Amino acid sequence: MNVFSLSMVVAAAAVFSLRAPLHGSRLKQAILVPQEVDGKALYAKNCKQCHGVLGAPTKAARQQYKNIATFVDSTFFATHQHKEFISAITNGKGDMLPFKDKLTAAEIEATVKYIHTLAKKS
Ligand code: HEC
Repeated sequence: MNVFSLSMVVAAAAVFSLRAPLHGSRLKQAILVPQEVDGKALYAKNCKQCHGVLGAPTKAARQQYKNIATFVDSTFFATHQHKEFISAITNGKGDMLPFKDKLTAAEIEATVKYIHTLAKKS
C-alpha cells in the first residue's frame, strides 16, 4: 500500500465517521472496508473540462489559462508535492476555483491519486 492509498483510507474513514454516528460496528466497517471513491469518475466530472481526458489540457483551456497544469509529464509530479495538490484543489489556485464545497477530502484525495496514474512513466 503506497502513501496515497493509505492517506485515502484514513481520509475516507474520517469522512465516514463524521457523517455517521459512531456505532462500534459502523466505525469498524469504515476502517476495515473503506468506501471506494472513484477518482477517475470524479476527475471526468470535475476536472476533465480543463485538464483534458488524459491529463493534457485542452487547447481551449491552454489558451484561456496560461499556467494550467499538465499531468502527463512525470517531472510535474517530481517537482510538486502531494500536499500542494490537495491545497490547490481544496482552496483553489490561480484560475482554478476551490473544490472544498463540491468534493469531500476523500474525494479530493481520490482525484489526486488518479492524476498520478496519468503521468507517463519515464
Ligand atoms: C476551470 C478549469 C479547471 C478545472 C475545472 C480544474 N482545474 Fe486544476 N488547474 C487549473 C489551472 C488554471 C491551474 C493552474 C493554477 C496556477 O498555477 O495558477 C490548475 C492547477 C492544478 C493542479 C496543480 C496545482 C499545483 O500545485 O500547482 C492540480 C493538481 C490540479 N489543477 C488538479 C485539478 C483537479 C484534480 C481538478 C478536479 C477536481 C481540477 N484541477 C479542476 C484549471 C482547472
